[in-house]
Amino acid sequence: MADGAEQPEGAGRQDAIDRVIEYLGCPLCGLPLGRIDGQLRCAARHSYNIARQGYASLLSGGKHPSAGDTAEMVAARAAFLATGHYSAIADAVSAAIPDAVIPDDAGLCLDLAGGTGYYLATVVEAHPRLLGLSIDLSQHAARRAARVHPRVASATADAWQRFPLLDRSVRHALSIFGPRNPDELARVLREDGSLIVVTPTGEHLRELRDGLGLIGIDERKEDRLRAQLERFEAVGVDRLEYRVAMSRDDVLWDVTMGPNAYHVDAERLRLGIERLGEATQVTVSVTVGRYRLLG
Ligand SMILES: C[S@@+](CC[C@H](N)C(=O)[O-])C[C@H]1O[C@@H](n2cnc3c(N)ncnc32)[C@H](O)[C@@H]1O
Ligand SMILES: [Zn+2]
Repeated sequence: MADGAEQPEGAGRQDAIDRVIEYLGCPLCGLPLGRIDGQLRCAARHSYNIARQGYASLLSGGKHPSAGDTAEMVAARAAFLATGHYSAIADAVSAAIPDAVIPDDAGLCLDLAGGTGYYLATVVEAHPRLLGLSIDLSQHAARRAARVHPRVASATADAWQRFPLLDRSVRHALSIFGPRNPDELARVLREDGSLIVVTPTGEHLRELRDGLGLIGIDERKEDRLRAQLERFEAVGVDRLEYRVAMSRDDVLWDVTMGPNAYHVDAERLRLGIERLGEATQVTVSVTVGRYRLLG
């Protein structure tokens, strides 16, 4: 649904930024940001551009570990997610947001390293009182996320630096297959907020991993996640596992939209995919965890 909900080019996208502006904080000094002369600015005169494509550039100017996903990776991600193979993950994330428990579900949903904004679009569509903010280091991803849904704002920002958000501004945070920064998540999350984390299990894409020589999944991933989230307590962690029939294109997109794009030998991948049948049964296996801040 994410790509289907795209808006046309134009000022409409910047409205999404105006709607979340009350939650934004300067990534350099932490002061609130306001819109002045088409820029975002804090009282200490740090200023940030809003790109023509509708996303805010909230990088603080320091050193970044990388530039985030390339244009090719982001295009592969958009094409793969449009197949619907991961829509059950998006639905599970959306269902993990506890509006049935807390009737007042209004507020901001942050998608950290949100990529194309696919999951966030599903969440805000299902929760009409939520506004979304996707932050990602990649400008290619930010461009897509800026047009994924009318209630989703998009910004470039570095997950390893101060988030461009005020303390306790976030009602729900999503961390899906991406880098997470527990200290900053704990700072920006409201006391009644929830953090939804999706990670692959060792079974995820098992059939492709063996056949195409993909990088393995760290067997201690769950332990590392628990250690990382020591300031949070798990409210519920569910395993979601199913099989999908992937075409050769689907397989190529799935492999090249993630870190394998850097690690897999292109020729080996091409030959491996050629050898696959018209449709390959592939296991999708993730955990969807819901956490809250420890008091
Ligand atoms: C595996 S993708 C997941 C994207 C999205 N959550 C999804 O599942 O579709 C990882 C994302 O993290 C972004 N990324 C990498 N390093 C980052 C950083 N330091 N800060 C913010 N985003 C980063 C990449 O650009 C990419 O969009
Ligand atoms: Zn500032």
